[in-house]
Amino acid sequence: MSRSRGRVLIGITGSIAAFKIAEVTSALVKSGIDVQVIMTASAVHFIGGDTFSVLTGKRVYKDLFSPFDEGKIVHVELSREYDLFLIAPASANTISKIANGIADNLLTTTCLGFPPNNVIFAPAMNTRMYENPIIQENIKKLKKLGYRFIEPDSGILACREVGKGRLASWEEIVEYIKTLLYKSKDFMGKKALITAGPTREPIDPVRFITNHSSGKMGYAIAKALRDRGADVMLITGPTHLIPPGDIKVLQVETAIEMHRAVMDMVKDVDIFISAAAVSDFRPRDFSKEKIKKGESSDLLIHLKKNPDILKEVSRIKKSDQIIVGFAAETEDLFENAKKKIEEKQLDFIVANKIGDKGAGFEVDTNRVTIIEKDGNLYRYPLLPKDEVAHIILTHILKILK
Ligand code: PMT
Repeated sequence: MSRSRGRVLIGITGSIAAFKIAEVTSALVKSGIDVQVIMTASAVHFIGGDTFSVLTGKRVYKDLFSPFDEGKIVHVELSREYDLFLIAPASANTISKIANGIADNLLTTTCLGFPPNNVIFAPAMNTRMYENPIIQENIKKLKKLGYRFIEPDSGILACREVGKGRLASWEEIVEYIKTLLYKSKDFMGKKALITAGPTREPIDPVRFITNHSSGKMGYAIAKALRDRGADVMLITGPTHLIPPGDIKVLQVETAIEMHRAVMDMVKDVDIFISAAAVSDFRPRDFSKEKIKKGESSDLLIHLKKNPDILKEVSRIKKSDQIIVGFAAETEDLFENAKKKIEEKQLDFIVANKIGDKGAGFEVDTNRVTIIEKDGNLYRYPLLPKDEVAHIILTHILKILK
């Protein structure tokens, strides 16, 4: 399946203009956009859900009270998974409910989960309804909160009155959505390879050496790149995380496997980000049988150095490739991080101090300092890993420009 060029959730409410959304849906799908449709109970009086199932290739969601779909809570999942929520046609009733925080059906409940500036209303209603001061007050309130509106047209309405209230043309709606979607797709056309998680170095069939990496930092970067339009490949050590959608994921166990996979794939990418906590050593000898406790109070395991993946990448790096490393240190963070930039020929390094509260391994947040190869240093406060990921992308964008 080819990568989608963005994700749009469409919410259809009860209006005669609902039929026009078939054109909108069809045009967005043809542009490679991943579209999902929600309909209110009133909307299905004007157009059948099957039309949209056929156009999107997906089931249409209608009911708040059958909210589980393969174990997902649909309204939460939809607001997480989709970049934009287009409510079109947006009836007076739905606009007013959302303006007042009412969540009494799947569409309005889902809307509450979206950031206001990712929601676009395309109103359609009788002109006297549209001009009603209550509706105008509600629209004003939503706009002030950051919700977006595609103004209705003026002309002959379905009720044969003349005035403002006709749904904007489907072409205008599609253009609006595409502009909004692609504006934030600043990594469109870029290929990125990310490593994440720990490696596991087997001692015998039941034991291994590993570290505390959960993969959260690397996965957050992969998702941020995906959301901003990049073609993303993720090489991950063993984690408990759900593989993100629309990303090619390769699961590996050992540093040797990760090394092989990276060297195989890195030639074809524009950006390589090494967020994995790769084990520097592995047991020299793997015991095919479980090592017995025996009589001795000690067990000696000889360790052998693993390849330094990042260092090897820098050796074969093409001049236009961007290579980003991490530094996980418990002491002398900046000195050690700076050494790694030189040793591994990085464009910049993301340094995090292990042991800092809320930072580093396992937690959802991180406190990083980005050190660029020319020595510029940027300290960031404790932030969610998702936000740290976007900060890293901003630094990459600076180089790309
Ligand atoms: O996964 P989380 O729980 O979210 O935790 C995030 C994190 C702490 C793992 C992450 O923020 C991080 O710091 N990742 C790099 C961990 C690390 O191995 O750091 P290092 O200083 O030992 O290595 C320096 C760089 O070389 C890293 O980019 C590392 O990926 C790379 N490396 C290290 C060893 C090796 N053999 N090959 C490598 O490529």
